[in-house]
Amino acid sequence: MYTVRNITEDLYYVGGDDRRLALFENIFPIPQGVSYNSYLLMDEKTVLIDTVDWSIAREYMSNVEYVLDGRDLDYLLINHMEPDHCAAIGLMLSKYPNATLIASEKAILFMRQFGFDVDDRYIEVKEGDTMNFGKHTLAFVEAPMVHWPEVLMTYDTKDKVLFSADAFGSFIANNGRLFADEVNWDRDYLDEARRYYTNIVGKYGTFVQKALEKAGGLDIAYICPLHGLVWREDIGYLLDKYIHWATYEPEEEGVLIAYASMYGNTEYAAQTLANKLCQAGITNISLRDVSSTDVSVLIAETFKYSNLVLASVTYNLNIYPKMKDFLNDMAALNVQNRGVSIIGNGTWAPQAAEKMEKFLDEEMRLMDVLPEGLDIVSSLKPSKEADVDAIVEGIKDNMKKRREEKAKAKSQKSGTKK
Ligand SMILES: Cc1cc2nc3c(=O)[nH]c(=O)nc-3n(C[C@H](O)[C@H](O)[C@H](O)COP(=O)(O)O)c2cc1C
Ligand SMILES: [Fe+2]
Ligand SMILES: [Fe+2]
Repeated sequence: MYTVRNITEDLYYVGGDDRRLALFENIFPIPQGVSYNSYLLMDEKTVLIDTVDWSIAREYMSNVEYVLDGRDLDYLLINHMEPDHCAAIGLMLSKYPNATLIASEKAILFMRQFGFDVDDRYIEVKEGDTMNFGKHTLAFVEAPMVHWPEVLMTYDTKDKVLFSADAFGSFIANNGRLFADEVNWDRDYLDEARRYYTNIVGKYGTFVQKALEKAGGLDIAYICPLHGLVWREDIGYLLDKYIHWATYEPEEEGVLIAYASMYGNTEYAAQTLANKLCQAGITNISLRDVSSTDVSVLIAETFKYSNLVLASVTYNLNIYPKMKDFLNDMAALNVQNRGVSIIGNGTWAPQAAEKMEKFLDEEMRLMDVLPEGLDIVSSLKPSKEADVDAIVEGIKDNMKKRREEKAKAKSQKSGTKK
């Protein structure tokens, strides 16, 4: 059988879903699965665009065979050499011995490193090159570090299709759907798309910005990513999300309160703060326990909100390990430009607050650590209420400052345009 769908008259989706994998890259939980997308262009020549993970190779082979319908495969175009997409290259090369590989110079090198016998069966392409296959001409756009250094994006000039590699992808299996307009994307996919982007490509914002600039110069009717759904409507909406993420601009004015607590005292302080923030009108809040929330979720929400509150117990003279993991991940992914309020707790030698502040200062960029903080000293006493109120005011002021800075930058930008 087969699980293919048409995208345009000549272009077919031939990928598939993995709903059994627990951890993507053996690290990120994917409770709703993931898709590995591959596309087959049926022109005067046949061109298979990327392959899939080993886990779905059997279904994939039958999809490709079904669409080819007796024709031979002429070309295998590889945009990205990560094994979740390239595992089936060897299978394809042996099943279709006349197929010629098309890839960047680096991708060919990686193929050899991964042990694929590419022999001299390849054409190397680079930025600006084009190839014609009959009705369709494909143009190649280099997109290094989105998500690996060899990455190409490919643009079909006839049907205005951008094959965007990992960019614009998402977790969540496709489950028979193909287009983003077939689902309630904002409600059901945005969080997982953000979690995918921020954790996997988030570190390379400047490279993504460069790729977005190149994509901005193209007239795009379809975006075909390597994971998740295909876009053919409202592409500006998705681009806008990507611009926020790639430039580390918060999507929303709001607060992620992440707390580390063993016995509930720090949790209670975090809860008290959330309560007071809501009373002050700041209701766009996410309150998360770092011990029970996967760090990939914390990272995604850090990219989403303008403000963070980090509340941690002291643990053996240090930041609580799960909070430290979160901080390390934020730094590794280049998170920047957030207002941060700090709450520390300890019973005999509190260290968490000081160490978190030092980390933000020394290991991260442009983190605006607010002066209002709270030292809980074992449990939150009524005498500390004024400190909690001061944090609320500090966050309010910080949000106002950010709003004003944003408005100023916007008016300067429109001023320079005139
Ligand atoms: C294993 C362990 C190590 C700790 N290390 C320290 C420490 O180095 N310095 C300190 O002041 N408190 C330390 N504490 C105490 C907690 O930080 C403190 O009791 C805190 O109030 C607990 O808050 P919670 O109810 O939110 O878990 C430690 C507690 C545990 C269980
Ligand atoms: Fe990748
Ligand atoms: Fe991927």
